Amino acid sequence: MGEILRMQNICKDYVMGDEIQHVLKNIDLTVDEGEFLAVLGPSGSGKSTLMNIIGCLDVPTSGDYWLDGLHVADEDEKTLARIRNQRIGFIFQSFYLLQKQTAFQNVELPLLYANASAKERRERTEEVLKLVGLGDKMDHYPSQLSGGQQQRVAIARAIANRPSILLADEPTGALDQHTGAQVMELFENLHEEGNTIIMITHDAKIASHASRIVKILDGCISEGAVEDA
Ligand SMILES: Nc1ncnc2c1ncn2[C@@H]1O[C@H](COP(=O)(O)OP(=O)(O)OP(=O)(O)O)[C@@H](O)[C@H]1O
Ligand SMILES: [Mg+2]
Repeated sequence: MGEILRMQNICKDYVMGDEIQHVLKNIDLTVDEGEFLAVLGPSGSGKSTLMNIIGCLDVPTSGDYWLDGLHVADEDEKTLARIRNQRIGFIFQSFYLLQKQTAFQNVELPLLYANASAKERRERTEEVLKLVGLGDKMDHYPSQLSGGQQQRVAIARAIANRPSILLADEPTGALDQHTGAQVMELFENLHEEGNTIIMITHDAKIASHASRIVKILDGCISEGAVEDA
């Protein structure tokens, strides 16, 4: 399997007044197609900053980033928006579901943006909602779903467009342990089916579900096992 992303010497600085904070320091990272990677690090270590760059939501201060063979810095905002919609499935700690839309409508949305036909949208939306175990809740609004079910809707929405990478920032952060374990089981199944997953977490136990772990500390990255996290 090929390489899906490569970062070389990625730095991210934030300037506040006359102080510069070096949040990411010379990050080198390569991820292969089909990997389930966990990025493990404490609060403030730079995880979300890294995720935003991987997801093309933010740009690095310096360094090179290739996603699916594209050199991201060379692409304009319109192309980046298309990359985000077609190649990346985002999953966040706080789900970000549209409250006035049903589970079905939330999951259908990225397919609408991708100009899928009505038939394709209905079939794929039903397929992914069944895959996450919510075939019987498609007409429920988020307020009528449990936290774990809402996160599963968010996961269904993230995979609807068959993205190259699933990008998850603390996907179990808002869930109790039992529900979090169910979501991890779903991630493991998605990984077995060939999906590439990058999951960001501060929790070594959650990270241990991944097939590879990199640690991030003070903006520096290192490969590592869970034991010495
Ligand atoms: N827009 C910004 N402007 C200035 N500093 C920022 C900005 N965004 C993040 N930072 C700083 O960068 C550092 C890393 O933040 P980041 O959100 O990446 O951490 P994190 O590892 O995701 O933490 P957490 O686990 O708490 O979510 C922090 O010290 C934060 O204050
Ligand atoms: Mg964060």
